[in-house]
Amino acid sequence: MRIVVLTGAGVSAESGVPTFRDADGLWEGHRVEDVATPEGYDADPGLVHAFYDARRAALADVAPNPAHLALGRLEAVLGHDLTIVTQNVDDLHERGGAHHVLHMHGELLSAWCRACGHRFRWEGTLADRPACPGCGVSELRPDIVWFGEMPYEMDRISAAIAEADLFVSIGTSGAVYPAAGFVIEARARGIRSLEINLEPSEGTHWFDEARHGKAGDLVPRWVDEVLGRL
Ligand code: APR
Repeated sequence: MRIVVLTGAGVSAESGVPTFRDADGLWEGHRVEDVATPEGYDADPGLVHAFYDARRAALADVAPNPAHLALGRLEAVLGHDLTIVTQNVDDLHERGGAHHVLHMHGELLSAWCRACGHRFRWEGTLADRPACPGCGVSELRPDIVWFGEMPYEMDRISAAIAEADLFVSIGTSGAVYPAAGFVIEARARGIRSLEINLEPSEGTHWFDEARHGKAGDLVPRWVDEVLGRL
């Protein structure tokens, strides 16, 4: 049984990480254009660094919830037959026991040097413009895929979907492509699909089955079903 799981901000909501598309349309008080685009970074790098430094520091105050832990249990049994693709930049899947996670929108705990192109695990701050551990130039930026940039791991994600028996989308509004299109790719290949989300996503009609409620309740239940059928 090969499964591809796509997760979004909803899987981390019960851990206390705010989702993106709240009623006010702001991301933690900021317009996404200001903090999640290359143009925003060029206009005010100090603001953008301070923003991501705060998000990175906030990881210390959150913990994986039952949805992350259930996916960790599933990976322990399925191994490489499970591919977790996340749009989230937190590390809660890893702390929940999943180790092969494709972070298509980058990671808070990674920095990318604009001078030499190398990436480094990064737990500290960037606003103080530290020197790159590789080349020494102070051009490190958050390793986050901003709007207008190319998501990571697209080849591996497409290959995993092509070989999957089941595609499951958890906690994502289905508003941002290419992730929102994975279900269409799965459907075109005749792969069964399941949505687990608090409410119907924008693409809910593409799924064979949809379950609506909290990821912390529904994901452990679904994982138990899958493990019970093996
Ligand atoms: N359980 C399940 N789903 C939940 C929960 C919960 N406890 N809480 C919220 N949700 C759902 C919401 O109903 C919403 O449909 O999670 C979804 C979160 O949607 P978004 O905030 O749009 O997050 P996401 O889909 O991950 O955003 C995609 O957009 O801003 C960019 O790059 C950013 O990766 C992000 C991408």
